[in-house]
Amino acid sequence: MELTNRNFDFISLISEHRSIRKFSDEKIPEEAMEKIITAAQSASSSSHGQAYSIINVTSSEKRKILSEYAGNQKQVIDSSHFLVFCADLHRLDRIAKLANVNMKESLDSTEMFIVATVDAALAAQNTAIAAESIGYGIVYTGGIRNKPAEVAELLNLPYRTYPVFGMCIGHPISDQIPDKKPRLPTESIFFEDVYPDFDEKYEHLQQYDQLMKKYYMKRKGGSQKEKTWSEVMTDKRKVPRRQDMKLFLNNQKFLIK
Ligand SMILES: Cc1cc2nc3c(=O)[nH]c(=O)nc-3n(C[C@H](O)[C@H](O)[C@H](O)COP(=O)(O)O)c2cc1C
Repeated sequence: MELTNRNFDFISLISEHRSIRKFSDEKIPEEAMEKIITAAQSASSSSHGQAYSIINVTSSEKRKILSEYAGNQKQVIDSSHFLVFCADLHRLDRIAKLANVNMKESLDSTEMFIVATVDAALAAQNTAIAAESIGYGIVYTGGIRNKPAEVAELLNLPYRTYPVFGMCIGHPISDQIPDKKPRLPTESIFFEDVYPDFDEKYEHLQQYDQLMKKYYMKRKGGSQKEKTWSEVMTDKRKVPRRQDMKLFLNNQKFLIK
C-alpha cells in the first residue's frame, strides 16, 4: 500500500469537525449510508473481535421516544439517520455457547467491557469522519444513556450488549453551521516520555480558559455571564449523573467482575 500521497487533505477535513445539531429534511441516499457503514466496519478492533453492533433506527415512533429519553434532543428526530452504537459481547457469548466453550469468566470481566466499548467508539468515529468526508454532519447522542434500560428495551438489546451512544447524521443547514470549538492547547494533552507535573503545564490551561471564555461569550451573543472552560467543566461534572449505570450494565451482564 502506498503510504504517501493518500492524505487528500483528509487532515483538514478531520480538523474542521464541529457537531451539527440542525439538519435539513433531505435524506442521505442508501448508497451513501452503505459506504459510511463500510467505513465504520473498517475501524480497528481489539483482536479483530468487532465487539459492537450498530442499530439504524428508522421507526419515527422510536426516534421520537429516543429523542425524549435523550432529554428532548430534537436532532434525534430531525436528522436523516439516527444510529445507536452498542458495545456487543452477545455475539461472542453465543458463538462460544454453540462451540461449548466456557467464556463466562472472560465475558464477565471489566477488561472485556473496555474492549467492547472501545470497539464501538472506534466504529462510531469512523462513521463520523466518513459521513463528514462526503458533506454530511453528525452529532453524537450520549443523552440516550439517560435511560439506558428503556433504550435497551426499545431496541430489544440482548444481554451482553449496551447502548454506548447514538449518532445523528444528516445534511447540515448551511447557514446554521456553528463555529469550530477551540481545543485544548496541544501542550496540555500531548506529552513526551512521562506525564508532566500539572503545575508545569497550567499556564496553557489558563490561556485556554481565556480563549474558551471568548468563545462562550460569542456563542451566547455576549448576554450570558462569562465562564471559563474550567468553570464550565467543573460546573457540569460536579453533579454525579446516571448513577444507576453500573446496575444497568450489571443487568446487561457487563462488569460482573
Ligand atoms: C460520547 C459523546 C456523547 C455526546 N453526546 C451529546 C449529546 O447527547 N448531545 C449533544 O448535543 N452533543 C453531544 N456530544 C457532542 C459534544 O458535545 C461535542 O462533540 C463537544 O462539545 C465538542 O464540540 P464539537 O463536536 O462541535 O467540536 C457528544 C459527544 C460525544 C463524544
